[in-house]
Amino acid sequence: MNPSTLVLLSCDAGSAELARAELLAACPAAQLFDSPGEGVLLADLGRPLAELALLWRQAPPIFVRHLAPVQVIVPLGGHAGDPAFLARTLPPLLPPLEADRRFSVQTRLCVELPYKPFDINTTLSAALAGEAGPPLDVRSPEQIVSVLCGLLPSGPQAGAWVADGFKLGKGRLAALAGLSLAADNLSNWAGGMRRFAREEGQVSRSEFKLLEALEVFGLELPARGVALDLGAAPGGWTRLLRQRDQYVTAVDPGELDPRLASDRGIRHLHITAEHYLEEGPDRFDLIVNDMRMDARDSARLMVAYARFLYPHGWALLTLKLPEQERAPIIEQALAILRRAYRVEGARQLFHNRSEITVLLRLPSARA
Ligand SMILES: C[S@@+](CC[C@H](N)C(=O)[O-])C[C@H]1O[C@@H](n2cnc3c(N)ncnc32)[C@H](O)[C@@H]1O
Repeated sequence: MNPSTLVLLSCDAGSAELARAELLAACPAAQLFDSPGEGVLLADLGRPLAELALLWRQAPPIFVRHLAPVQVIVPLGGHAGDPAFLARTLPPLLPPLEADRRFSVQTRLCVELPYKPFDINTTLSAALAGEAGPPLDVRSPEQIVSVLCGLLPSGPQAGAWVADGFKLGKGRLAALAGLSLAADNLSNWAGGMRRFAREEGQVSRSEFKLLEALEVFGLELPARGVALDLGAAPGGWTRLLRQRDQYVTAVDPGELDPRLASDRGIRHLHITAEHYLEEGPDRFDLIVNDMRMDARDSARLMVAYARFLYPHGWALLTLKLPEQERAPIIEQALAILRRAYRVEGARQLFHNRSEITVLLRLPSARA
């Protein structure tokens, strides 16, 4: 069996080319196979996954959201017996799990099947945990068995990953599985798909973007902080910041949701971010910006706002991307931002569509 040079990489369906370029920049010798599903790349790295994981832990890619090894491929029947079949066949074929590390099984289905990922997760976890196996912890696993069920593309069916005794051809339904440390996967969620439950009182779907960014970048909000929300309407981010004890100046010519009207911790300025700059803003612990505008214009505005951020503060913005020329536009926008900030993170999060989320701190802030 070929240990962990075959990998699945996940990204937004519209960013596959950019994810591919990120992979090839990190592993020039990588061989890419046909995609087994939308937003999924399958590649032989030509080097151990752990090396790429280390590189990406230090400098995470923007578009690759999730990385998982494929150490074994087995055929599936496409019927209700598949979860039990996987629970029987995979445990002896996978590398042994470490007995004292919390684990979970994360399954994705790339084709319509008569069972859900949950059925494989629960059946296979039970088999792996056994009587004296590692503890199951789906919320914060330290080691993860990733399973992807889909139609096998050309290439790996002839490889050493196919378990002995199985024959697989192109287009055959198969499960691709591997074990890795959660820290190597870029995200603790299957395929990097971090889902949040809808909340009572939620104002916009944009709220998920801020929730995910706070989690991915590990951001803390100061107690009773003062926040500036540029492009705030209809007020999803403002609502979340209020929930987290921030006083919010919400700048947007558009209207905020009427449910926010009576909140005295919100000051809504019905003007543009450009206009507020002319008025002379206050100073803030954090500045967030979800404005719908050209990424480079938005970056220039953030540079102008840098002097209104306290030295300990941070800023978070989404850079909206056009259909074409995404890579150079991102590069230009980041170069503009670097005139005033340290770019601490830039990721296309699960809840970002045609945009990426960027975290900034002032150069004087502690690293
Ligand atoms: C995607 S929405 C923001 C959603 C918001 N984050 C939420 O959670 O509800 C983008 C907003 O940017 C605003 N916008 C666009 N250009 C702006 C500008 N120059 N100044 C202020 N707001 C602007 C638009 O009016 C729009 O309300």
